[in-house]
Amino acid sequence: MRRVIYPGSFDPVTVGHLDIISRSAQIFDEVIVGVLNNNQKSPLFSAEERVDMINKVTENFPNVRAQAFSGLLVDFAKKEGAMVIVRGLRAVTDFEYELQMSQTNHQICPEVDTLFLTASVEYSYVSSSTVKEIARFGGDFSAFVPDIVIPEVKKRFSI
Ligand code: PNS
Repeated sequence: MRRVIYPGSFDPVTVGHLDIISRSAQIFDEVIVGVLNNNQKSPLFSAEERVDMINKVTENFPNVRAQAFSGLLVDFAKKEGAMVIVRGLRAVTDFEYELQMSQTNHQICPEVDTLFLTASVEYSYVSSSTVKEIARFGGDFSAFVPDIVIPEVKKRFSI
């Protein structure tokens, strides 16, 4: 059983995340979308809400499930029996941070490796931060998130 963790904040999940999830689901037997529950950040959505949204948008993928985690990613990966972490790379600007994170994770837990999937070109500019920025100013972010996420974001910004 090849199980992979796709970790992130997913605040909220975007079409870019969904692209990485669906491609990972074709490569691996099981994909666990790990939603970081970090008290130090002030996310727009609670970890439970983010998990729920991901589970809804991935309901057509039988081998994908979302789960919240806190603490170290490598500990979560080991607990779930996943020796691989997958991350998406959108642009060169992502690379430095991702390289440092994957090397740190490998140093503290050599059994766990990180694989990178490059973002599909049509999604390479999409990010959760951009979605929130557009929504904050009442703009149209509907192309950036799965349909069921649109009303949830609008509610948060009273649009
Ligand atoms: O979507 P994001 O915010 O870029 O995801 C970052 C995430 C959740 C993958 C990263 O912050 C993380 O793994 N946090 C858990 C704590 C941890 O393991 N830190 C050490 C890695 S350097």
